[in-house]
Amino acid sequence: MSPDSAERHFTDDERERLVSLRRALHRHPELSWKEERTAARLEEALGELGLSEVRRVAGTGVVARVRGTDPAAPVVAVRGDIDALPIQEATGLPFASEVDGVMHACGHDVHATWAVGAAMLLVRAPARGDVVIVLQPAEEVGAGAAAILASGALDGVSAIFGGHVDRRFPVGQVVAEAGPLAASADAFSIVVQGKGAHGARPHEGVDPVVAASAIVLALQTIVSRRLDPGAAAVVSVGSIHGGSAPNVIPERVDLSGTLRAMHPDVRRLLHDEVGAVATAVAAAHGASALVTIERGPPPIVNPAREARWARAAAERVLGTGSVVPFGVTNMGGEDFACYMEHIPGCFLRIGAREPGGSPAPAHSPGFVAAEASIFVGAAVLAECAREAARNL
Ligand code: NI
Repeated sequence: MSPDSAERHFTDDERERLVSLRRALHRHPELSWKEERTAARLEEALGELGLSEVRRVAGTGVVARVRGTDPAAPVVAVRGDIDALPIQEATGLPFASEVDGVMHACGHDVHATWAVGAAMLLVRAPARGDVVIVLQPAEEVGAGAAAILASGALDGVSAIFGGHVDRRFPVGQVVAEAGPLAASADAFSIVVQGKGAHGARPHEGVDPVVAASAIVLALQTIVSRRLDPGAAAVVSVGSIHGGSAPNVIPERVDLSGTLRAMHPDVRRLLHDEVGAVATAVAAAHGASALVTIERGPPPIVNPAREARWARAAAERVLGTGSVVPFGVTNMGGEDFACYMEHIPGCFLRIGAREPGGSPAPAHSPGFVAAEASIFVGAAVLAECAREAARNL
């Protein structure tokens, strides 16, 4: 249950290498699809393990194959994401970001280190089958997983495991459970088209500002009036742009926002309702609305079998009592879900709060993931791969 139970899987030298890898990644964060330096550093770290099959895929992605004991056994994958966010770091860490306006504020520096650490352990104690280590770019823009899949790097893989640091749980606790773990994350945009006029004579035009304002308010009734109160969903308008002068009624207003749901039916309902509400409310104001929905990752719903393997793996590494219930509804999106549309697997939450540690949320300038969580995630993911290969 203590983080020490994960640390014991590594030698002093290995621990030092993983900590310095994490710090190096943290110091030089790179935005989605720009992870050149990160990918090179990860290639180097995997190369140091003696892995000959390390290669670049999907631009800035890196994959490696750790051989199993039985070449005919099913292949399993372990995934870590590697990109950072456009945030100015304010943690005061000795290894804080040296890149202005870019920060590992979601712990992907730790996730990447987990995947390398898992490879380290799997080289020493291989799974039955081969394990593909996937270092995935561009998670934050919800596009990297699809690119990795398209590269063919996961062809023939029978199960996939990954995880996310979670500051709500102390280091040494892990969530590995069946059911919903992350929401679908779709974007919508609405162009409200009116007719320009003098601000003093609104009756000569069609005011898209008033129509857009009514749309923003009406969209809030989708969750409160259209959905079963027990269903989790979010509709948020994140941007509204229009107009150029106080006394001019503009031609158009642009809105954009995000839609989150835990269930495919709810997701579909959100898409339909945003379209219906926006068009009808615009029409009521004599304007028109053009609604576009850009589909992001689906929800993550861990299947029972793979979750059972992950739980067994975590308990073996950390001891009984280390696997805890999630207990929250996470409306965040995670593109690991794209893998799970094709490959069964389990996505874990790995405790990353130090005693008395920072409560700053992910995607904020003060976010810190505890260093000791490196060993927990690496050891648990390696054991997930072994456990899956044993049972497949
Ligand atoms: Ni993240």
